[in-house]
Amino acid sequence: MTGARETAVCIPRHVAVIMDGNGRWAKQRGRPRLFGHRAGAESLRAVLRACRDHGVEYLTVYAFSTENWVRPKDEVGGLMSLLKTFLKKDEHELHENQVRLRVTGRIEDLPRSVRTELERVMEATKAYTRWHLILALSYGGRTEIMDAVRAIARKVKTGELEPEAVDETVISRHLYLPDVPDPDLMIRTSGELRLSNFLLWELSYAEFYFTDTLWPDFREPQFAEALAEYSRRQRRFGAPS
Ligand code: FPP
Repeated sequence: MTGARETAVCIPRHVAVIMDGNGRWAKQRGRPRLFGHRAGAESLRAVLRACRDHGVEYLTVYAFSTENWVRPKDEVGGLMSLLKTFLKKDEHELHENQVRLRVTGRIEDLPRSVRTELERVMEATKAYTRWHLILALSYGGRTEIMDAVRAIARKVKTGELEPEAVDETVISRHLYLPDVPDPDLMIRTSGELRLSNFLLWELSYAEFYFTDTLWPDFREPQFAEALAEYSRRQRRFGAPS
């Protein structure tokens, strides 16, 4: 057990992260944006390892939003190759640590070669039940809710569902990953104080943690600090008034 775990009494089961600031990190060093994304992939590796060390079962990361498709072609292509490299290079580590890989988002929007690789690794890791890495790819919170509403509307149309039966549980069950518990903690790096269309439904009751640290500089110590802050908030919440 790590020192951080001993002090952070209340551990979130699910942490969601907006990995922001790769571009600025690269710019500060006079390097292309992709250099920042590569360093960002290292941070993802470090945080995934830290999740296991601290006992965080689910990690969801915003790796590519529906809005990111309008970025320059080179950058989009670079991010897609980075994703493929991550899947190839890190698959053994997922197995070693028994981490299940999943995707939330419109996987069908991704280039075929990326999809094939993703589907292969998701299939190969699907038996693992304890640790989960969820990549939000071509993901948008409003699109997810819209897709759920459409699926529900189709069932109402065919008479499979009564309009009055549509409640929060029914909506949750039609989201992309209905079996995944809602995040307890949402971290956004790089000083931006926005949700940017990330997990709009699922983050309703999450604690939010914002830090000025740029994502490529966000590693285990910074993650441990976020967990410690979460734990402090939880303790305050439970205290008598
Ligand atoms: C936001 O930073 C980050 C992204 C749009 C991409 C996140 C991707 C990674 C961290 C790469 C690793 C992911 C995998 C799955 C291998 P930004 O580019 O908007 O930064 P800026 O706001 O400073 O410009």
